[in-house]
Amino acid sequence: MTASADVPLVHISDLPAHAGRIVRLRGWVYNRRSSGKIEFIILRDGTGFVQVVVVASDVPDDVFRVAASLGQESAVVLTGEVRTDRRAPGGYEVSARSLELLAPSEDYPISLKEHGVEFLMDNRHLWFRTPRQTAILKLRAELIRALRDFFDDRGFVLVDSPILTPAACEGTTTLFKTDYFGDPAYLSQSGQLYQEAAAMALGRTYCFGPTFRAEKSKTRRHLIEFWMVEPEMAFVEFEENLRIQEEMVSFVVQRILERRLPELETVGRDTAPLRKVRPPFPRLSYDEAVELVRSKGLDMEWGDDFGAPQETAVASEFDRPVFVHRYPTAVKAFYMKPDPDRPEVCLSADLLAPEGYGEIIGGGQRIDDIELLKRRLAEHCLPEETYRWYLDLRRYGSVPHSGFGLGVERTLAWIAGLEHVRETIPFPRMLHRLYP
Ligand code: 4AD
Ligand code: MG
Repeated sequence: MTASADVPLVHISDLPAHAGRIVRLRGWVYNRRSSGKIEFIILRDGTGFVQVVVVASDVPDDVFRVAASLGQESAVVLTGEVRTDRRAPGGYEVSARSLELLAPSEDYPISLKEHGVEFLMDNRHLWFRTPRQTAILKLRAELIRALRDFFDDRGFVLVDSPILTPAACEGTTTLFKTDYFGDPAYLSQSGQLYQEAAAMALGRTYCFGPTFRAEKSKTRRHLIEFWMVEPEMAFVEFEENLRIQEEMVSFVVQRILERRLPELETVGRDTAPLRKVRPPFPRLSYDEAVELVRSKGLDMEWGDDFGAPQETAVASEFDRPVFVHRYPTAVKAFYMKPDPDRPEVCLSADLLAPEGYGEIIGGGQRIDDIELLKRRLAEHCLPEETYRWYLDLRRYGSVPHSGFGLGVERTLAWIAGLEHVRETIPFPRMLHRLYP
C-alpha cells in the first residue's frame, strides 16, 4: 500500500473532525466478521473503537485477501473514507481504500466469548485491551488526575514518601519484610508518618504512591499492592479534616462525571447515585453506628471493628458517603489522638462509600504530645528507637495536625460500580496472584 503524503494519519478519537475525508489509521483488529464480499473489522487504537468496512469491489484483490484473513489482534495500517453512520457504534465508520498488515496475530487466547476470571487474570496483559478494561483504565487515570488537581490547586505540596522503610505505620501483622543489606526493611504500608514530617516543613502536603499490605484476606476489597493519596495538614484539627475529605470526594466524582461519561456508560454505571455526591456527608459516631448495626439484626459488640456486612449495613442508610468517627482507641493505629473528653475513643474517622463498597478513606487527628506518643508506642510493642525521628516531630514545635489516606482502587470500584477491586488496577497483586 502506498499512502499518499496528504492523507492525514489520525486517531480513532479524532474521526468526528474528519467526516467525509480520507484518513489513515493504525491499530489492531479487535474483531472481524465476513459477509460474502464484505469484511467488517472492528479496529481499536487505544483512543477508541471503529468499524472498518472492506468491500471486495472497492480494493485490489490482494488487499481484500489480507483483510479476509486477519486474525484477532493483528496490527494494521489502513486508509479509508470517514462516513457518518447513525447505526455504527460511535456514529462513524470507515470505508477502506487500502489496508496493510503490519504484524500478524494468530490463535489469540481471549476470544470475545465469556471467559473465567482466573483465565482472564492469567492473561491480564491481554485482557486489558478490551473496551470495558480500557474504559476502567481511563477512569483510573482520570481519578488520579482529579485527586492531584484537587491538592495541587489548594496549596498542598507533593512530597514523596519512601517505599522502603524501617518501621510499621499500620500494625506489624501486615508488613512485607525484605532484606536491606543485612538489616530488616519493610515495604511501606502508608506514607503517613513521613507526611507528618513534611507537613511540619511545608504546612500542607500529600503523597501519592503504591502501598503494600501482606493481608491474608481474599475479599472483593483487598489488594496486596494498592495506591493511596495521603494528605497531611499542620494546624488542622478533626472537623476541618472531614470537611476537606467531603470536598475532595465530591470534587473527584463530579470531575469524572464531567469528563468520562462515555467510559462510565461502557462499564454500565448508573450515574444517578453519583450525581448526589455533594457535601456535606452524614456523620455518625462509632457508638451510633454500632446501634444502627444492631438495630438491623447484625452482631456487634462495642469495641469490635466493622466487618464488611456491618459497613454495608451502615452505608446503605445513606445516599452519599458517610463518616463513622470516634472509633475505640484500642482498635485503631498507635498515632491516633484520643478524644480529650473521652479517651477510650479517638479522633479518627473512616469514610464509607454508598452501595456496599465499604471504607474508602481512613484518617484522623494525630497525637501531638510526646509523652502520650511514647506510651502508645510501648503499648503497641513498637521500638521507640526506630521512631526516634517521628518523636522529634513532637519535640520541636509540635502542633495539632491531621490527615487521611484514600485508597484509589476501592474508590474507583465504587465510582465505576465494579464488583471487585481486581479490575481497578492494571496488574493486581492479590493473595496467590503475582503473575503477570
Ligand atoms: O485505613 P488505612 O489503613 O489508613 C492508613 O493507612 C492511614 N495511614 C492513612 C492516613 O491517614 N494517611 O488505609 C487507608 C485506605 C483505606 O480506607 C482503603 O481505601 C485503602 O487505604 N486500603 C486498601 N485498599 C485495597 N486493598 C487493601 N488491602 C487496603 N488497605 C487499605
Ligand atoms: Mg482503615
